[in-house]
Amino acid sequence: MSRHDFQIPVSFKHRVCFTRDAFAPGNRLVAELLEEGGGRKVLVLVEDAVAAAWPELKRRVGEYFADLGFNWRGLRVLPGGEEVKVDDVLVREVWQTIDHERIDRHSYVLAIGGGAFLDAVGYAVATAHRGVRLVRFPTTTLAQDDSGVGVKCAINAFGKKNWVGSFAVPFAVVNDFQFLESQDEDVRRIGLIEAVKVSLVKDAEFFQWIRRHIEALAALERAPFEECVERSALAHARHIAEGGDPFETGSSRPLDFGHWAAHKLEQLSDFTLGHACAVSIGVALDTLYSARCGLLRECDAERVMDVLDTLRVPIWHDALDLRDAKGRRRVHEGLEEFREHLGGELTVLLLRDLGRGQDVHALDEGLVDACIDDLKRRAAALGAEYSPPRVS
Ligand SMILES: NC(=O)c1ccc[n+]([C@@H]2O[C@H](COP(=O)([O-])OP(=O)(O)OC[C@H]3O[C@@H](n4cnc5c(N)ncnc54)[C@H](O)[C@@H]3O)[C@@H](O)[C@H]2O)c1
Ligand SMILES: [Zn+2]
Repeated sequence: MSRHDFQIPVSFKHRVCFTRDAFAPGNRLVAELLEEGGGRKVLVLVEDAVAAAWPELKRRVGEYFADLGFNWRGLRVLPGGEEVKVDDVLVREVWQTIDHERIDRHSYVLAIGGGAFLDAVGYAVATAHRGVRLVRFPTTTLAQDDSGVGVKCAINAFGKKNWVGSFAVPFAVVNDFQFLESQDEDVRRIGLIEAVKVSLVKDAEFFQWIRRHIEALAALERAPFEECVERSALAHARHIAEGGDPFETGSSRPLDFGHWAAHKLEQLSDFTLGHACAVSIGVALDTLYSARCGLLRECDAERVMDVLDTLRVPIWHDALDLRDAKGRRRVHEGLEEFREHLGGELTVLLLRDLGRGQDVHALDEGLVDACIDDLKRRAAALGAEYSPPRVS
């Protein structure tokens, strides 16, 4: 017998940038990023909704790279939204385009779109040639304040969210605030839920800042809005870089506060409930639960609920009331699926304070039900004024 253990040290540079109008002729940010990597070939993939909202984009991107002397392989418009994660049709199309344009591991693929588009394109790019350089341009609030700075990508399989995918640190992430302006106002506002989430689990001072600016944030005032997106993105990136488990090999996933229910609700709604809306409901549920199980002070839970209320994010969806043949709420299944996805022991992060989480390894189903009933009452009390936003 013989056994040899080798350590393979690998480190990644995670470039996270913020700008406005990245393809303006005088904006050197993207050029400098690509020059740093040394490659010359550039292929740009744009989500159709973004291409439609910014009709000048194709011409401007082409001119930008032609002026800088890059080997510009064109701009393709491709479908986006959660539907593209349901199967591998988009993934295959991206593989084909990469092959057709002779994109190699030193070339760049720039992907411009929402979180779902970036997830599916990112998976295709991470697996083509075992990984081509990807520059992400997230175009939704949620994608800029959370998913775009992440180091993973996935599509759904077997009806489960993000079942097939990979960890792959993008070459760079460019958050261009201008793209956010063409979003539907509800999508734009509700995407801030991931900022609320990260502040609750990581940064008490950030949560207090959100509370102080909540009216302005709800009104989409540009300066506080962009500051909130940037602080959130950096909090996520910092956790990934410095949290000790960038590729989630452990059983705990601290940035996924509220997500065990959220992922299940997306699935139970046949993905008609968007991720941001589902997370809003999940954050509300786990906040109430944190208080009911005695971890979080009631008054602090109410402070969180006030923030959600002013931000006008949903706290209810009828999928919460779907039951199996035995009358058990189906959302409870989300807990076991969450454990399966991570592997190991069930670990759910709850709140012990505003800005501080605590891992627990079991939830009391009766208490979860009581919290769901509470959410239903609260949503009903908001009455006629409350209409759940229609978000894809
Ligand atoms: N990889 C990760 O680390 C990670 C983390 C969190 C969430 N996610 C994933 O991100 C996805 C959600 O992302 P999302 O909230 O951006 O939703 P999304 O990608 O579905 O976009 C929402 C809608 O906005 C449209 N859109 C996008 N940008 C636009 C723009 N600038 N102007 C006009 N319309 C625009 C899209 O076409 C879509 O209809 C989910 O699939 C979720 O699982 C991934
Ligand atoms: Zn999320």
